Amino acid sequence: MEIERVLLTQEQLQTRIAELGAALSADYADKTPVFIGVLKGAVHFFTDLTLQFPHPCQYDFIGASSYGDGTQSSGQVKLTKDVMTDLQGRHVIIVEDILDTGLTLRFVTDWLRSKGPASLKLCVLLDKPERRKAKLSADYIGFTIPNEFVVGYGLDYQELYRNLPYVGVLKP
Ligand code: PRP
Repeated sequence: MEIERVLLTQEQLQTRIAELGAALSADYADKTPVFIGVLKGAVHFFTDLTLQFPHPCQYDFIGASSYGDGTQSSGQVKLTKDVMTDLQGRHVIIVEDILDTGLTLRFVTDWLRSKGPASLKLCVLLDKPERRKAKLSADYIGFTIPNEFVVGYGLDYQELYRNLPYVGVLKP
């Protein structure tokens, strides 16, 4: 195993996600929001977060990929799957695992905003502000983390490690 250390334990993740769920529940109780998960990294965060939202809501998914096989962003974002829901007049919550350079979420928010939602907010599990290239910030943030390459709980390195139940720092 090439994990140097655990950054966020399963328990820390679940505690914080319950808090984010409570905040979203207060803000969207009567809005029937559409939660949009960004594939693939957000998969575990999406399912755990939405289970903490007890009000009516809908799910959809968008596919976007910016990384090549390495630990550096290619800078190019590509849409790999569009949403199926008509977002006109809807309250949209984008659910993403990590806000890093921001290039992926810049692309995704622009794309979804063009579909005419009534509101559009960003909920990210991890925020790495040091690496930001796009001018963008999230509305709901799980944890602000230092500039280290993290894997687990949906996050990959060369498509591996997504199934770790915690977030860990990869050995350089
Ligand atoms: C990762 C991550 C975010 C994005 C963040 O996705 O899941 O979507 O990079 O990086 P950025 O802020 O620098 O754009 P990736 O493109 O690796 O696809 P994946 O979710 O399928 O792993």
